[in-house]
Amino acid sequence: MRIDILTLFPDMFDGAFNYSIIKRAKEKGLAEIYFHNIRDYSTDKHKSVDDYAYGGGAGMVMMIEPIAICIDNLKNKRTYDEIIYMTPDGELLNQKIANHISTLNNIIILCGHYKGIDQRIREHYITKEISIGDYVLSGGELAAAVLCDAVIRIIPGVINDETSALSDSFQDELLSPPVYTRPYNYKNLKVPDILLSGNDKEIQKWRTEKSIERTKKRRPDLLSNKGDE
Ligand code: 6GU
Repeated sequence: MRIDILTLFPDMFDGAFNYSIIKRAKEKGLAEIYFHNIRDYSTDKHKSVDDYAYGGGAGMVMMIEPIAICIDNLKNKRTYDEIIYMTPDGELLNQKIANHISTLNNIIILCGHYKGIDQRIREHYITKEISIGDYVLSGGELAAAVLCDAVIRIIPGVINDETSALSDSFQDELLSPPVYTRPYNYKNLKVPDILLSGNDKEIQKWRTEKSIERTKKRRPDLLSNKGDE
């Protein structure tokens, strides 16, 4: 999968993709991430990328031209499956959306700043708008990093243990059960004995029970949504 990220602040991604699973995905060639600084596509001598909003009001709006030129350049080189704009008024990111995006070959992710981007970009270039939650961030970069992480980690072949991504919280609309590792006894805090029983069937049953219990207590909305799709 190839991801092209359009941003005014490429340095904000420093480090975000250089650890753990995402690093491995890049090393295996399963994910390629390229950054494009929107300012490099500015057409005036001041390298402007934003301007006052028509109709007045506080806050600057990102201009059409630099973004359009950058996207046009990319589209001339390959076909993109989705051109995604990160925005708090987009569709709320969930596992189902991440699963879908992880199946695509080429995507563009556009990060907004200031008061947003000229509406004409949204209407004529963007194919999908995504938010990562009901709160406002100062720009789309951190949200784009979250989206990329959620998507890349589930690309087939990225995680060695094939079942691991499938047992994540949310993959089956249940939260994950509690997990434990050594030592068995820490200052008299002990690991549930069932996990040491060696009885795989009983262990799976216990885990499912704990998953349901946890979901009921913490996220009952996930259970009531079941079957909605
Ligand atoms: Cl995608 N962008 C911004 N600026 N704020 C957000 C968001 C995105 N998702 C939640 N809050």
